[in-house]
This record gives sequence, C-alpha cells and structure tokens, in this order.
Amino acid sequence: MRGVVLAGGLGTRQLPLTKITNKHLLPIWDKPMVYYPIGTLVRAGIQDILLVTGGNNAGDFLRLLGNGKEFGLSHIDYVYQEGQGGIAEALGLARYYAEGQRMVVILGDNIIEDDITPFVQAFRRQERGARILLKEVDDPERFGVAELAGDRVVSIEEKPSAPKSRYAVTGIYMYDARVFEIISKLRPSGRGELEITDVNNAYIAAGEMQFDYLPGWWTDAGTFESLYRANRLVAEKALAAGRP
Ligand code: G1P
Repeated sequence: MRGVVLAGGLGTRQLPLTKITNKHLLPIWDKPMVYYPIGTLVRAGIQDILLVTGGNNAGDFLRLLGNGKEFGLSHIDYVYQEGQGGIAEALGLARYYAEGQRMVVILGDNIIEDDITPFVQAFRRQERGARILLKEVDDPERFGVAELAGDRVVSIEEKPSAPKSRYAVTGIYMYDARVFEIISKLRPSGRGELEITDVNNAYIAAGEMQFDYLPGWWTDAGTFESLYRANRLVAEKALAAGRP
C-alpha cells in the first residue's frame, strides 16, 4: 500500500501567512502542519510515502523532513506540481510511484483525532474500487458533500450551495490502481482544476465506492478560521494527554 500526501497549492486564502512559506509548513500547535497527515499514514502502517508539493518553497519540505527519520521511515519520495491544476492533477503526478498499486491519499491540511488503521484494513479487504471517510459537519457547503441513500453514497457535490446532507467527504481517500486511468480522462472544472470529487464520482458511477464514518474530530486548516480550529483541537488533545 502506497501513501500520497498532497501538499501543493499557493495557499492564497491565507495571505500574508503563505507569502514566504507553504501552507503545509505553518505551525499547528508544536509541529509544522504536514507532520500530521504524514503521522496519520505512518500510524496506519504505511511506510512508502510520496509527498507532492509545489509553489515557491518546495525545497523547505526536504530540509524539514529529509528521509522521514522522525517518523521512523527509511525514505520519503518527493514530486513537484507545476501550476495550480487541482488535487486530482496533483495525485496524477503519483502515477510513476503508485502504478499498479493501491494507495491511501491524504490532503496535507487534513488533521484528525483518531487513527485510520481500521479503515485502511477494511480497504485492504475490499476487492477493488475506492473508499472514502465521511464526517458530519456544521458547514457542509465548504466541502465535497455526500448524498446518501441507505448504506450507499449515490453522489458527491463539490461545495454545493444547497448541500444534500451534512456529511463532508474528508481529504482521506483510498484508491485502487485504476485511479490514474480515471484522472487521465478528467476535464477541468469551472475553476479550471481537475477535481478529486470527479474522481470519486467516477468510482460511484462504477458501483465501486465504499465509505466509513470517521470517528473523532476532523478539520482542515486551509482558512484562517480552520487553521485556528486545528491549533485549538491539537493543543487541547496534547494538553489533556499531559504533553507540552
Ligand atoms: C478539498 C476537496 C473537498 C474536500 C476537502 C477536504 O477542498 O475539494 O472535496 O471535502 O478538500 O478538506 P479544498 O480544501 O481544496 O477547498
């Protein structure tokens, strides 16, 4: 199982914080943001990790993370995304790395309370297709939103003005090797990006999408408000555990 951390983008929603550094290097409590998604993959038993980044400060990831020794890894792979082609385009750059394999993909600004090991294990047992993690939120219009019918996801809408549920699609995605074929057929959305939601809808259309509800808290950190929330949640968890 391969791991892919998507940590590109220009972070324009957080200027001037992101003028001289990458969003994923901003502090969340006592660590740079990107430590959390890497930690999430490593805790789930994933040792082969590719970090996709871009923008002006890409070299800082190498200086910060090196070969991933702090995470107990023997190496981390890196690839550079030119431009702002979207999450699915960034994932497409992982083709050389994960071709023919299954993968867990995590957005570099997604931070969670719990461990995803049980869901990764469920995906290992799944014959084929994809698996996503849903979380009930108060502000679904900020996310990809799942429309549910019984125990199935029937569609996902990206940032809908009238959400069909309160279940956000978190930025943790599990895909089989077919994902690269799906990405190669995508067309840019209205905002000129290849959308991860279109990838997920392709799996839904093929009847190959499974999902779990993510327990514990989940947050992104790509706006000032969510960056503050991420800091608060991580700090409260650390302080409750008696750690600095
Ligand atoms: C992205 C995805 C969205 C998903 C979210 C999770 O949105 O497009 O479907 O729900 O991540 O963090 P973005 O944060 O790029 O606006």
